[in-house]
Amino acid sequence: MIDTHSHLFEDEFSDDLDQCISRCKSQGVNKIVLVGFSESTNNKAMELSRKYNIFYPTAGMHPCEADDGWQKKVMILQDFLKANKVYAIGECGLDYHYGKDNIENQKKLFKAQIELAILYDLPLIVHMRDATMDTYEILSKYKGMLRGVMHCYSGSLEMANEFIKLGFYISLGGPVTFKNAKESKRVATNIPIDRLLVETDCPYLAPGIYRGKRNESSYVVYVASEIAKLREMSYEDVEKITSLNSEKLFGI
Ligand code: NI
Repeated sequence: MIDTHSHLFEDEFSDDLDQCISRCKSQGVNKIVLVGFSESTNNKAMELSRKYNIFYPTAGMHPCEADDGWQKKVMILQDFLKANKVYAIGECGLDYHYGKDNIENQKKLFKAQIELAILYDLPLIVHMRDATMDTYEILSKYKGMLRGVMHCYSGSLEMANEFIKLGFYISLGGPVTFKNAKESKRVATNIPIDRLLVETDCPYLAPGIYRGKRNESSYVVYVASEIAKLREMSYEDVEKITSLNSEKLFGI
């Protein structure tokens, strides 16, 4: 099993990271994509990946970083990519949840990272919140040049299939286990299984039984169990197929 989106470098784990990793191993979670989203977290992901071979680091600039200094941040990211081996660009994308006042900067920062993903031939990890159509419009301009994942996807089944046509995988996290997550369950049941990934986005978005508590990478097994139940497949098959998908996308 692979957690394709984790932030185990966060302070929430500073007291028990080793125990978190052993819990992963005992649950069969043997690879974790450690996702950076700012200058400092890109560095943290890289440092931890040197210490623990379970981790595969990425580097990106989250839409929250899209202030007037966005160009400098792209340069910092590019310097980082020259000096370090990463497995994806991102997370990056568009987030209109907290307002749209920096929308132009968000788009520019996102496009710059799409171009880096193409330049370095790396997959793109896309964060999209309340910004489906703008995200789709930007990504569709690069159709055929890009591969990547829509992380913690929470949109409709119809749009999921459109992103798949653009070369993207759909990654589901803890919210698919929530009782009222009708559309996420529809996505989990109906998208082509060869485009499905699983993730935690820990420490955020814990699955239903731990809702509101700290999430951690070993809980990805609850996401996979829910998908197995919804698709009437064995857990082992979901584990095998999503792991192969992740290995193919990230080259891990
Ligand atoms: Ni994240």
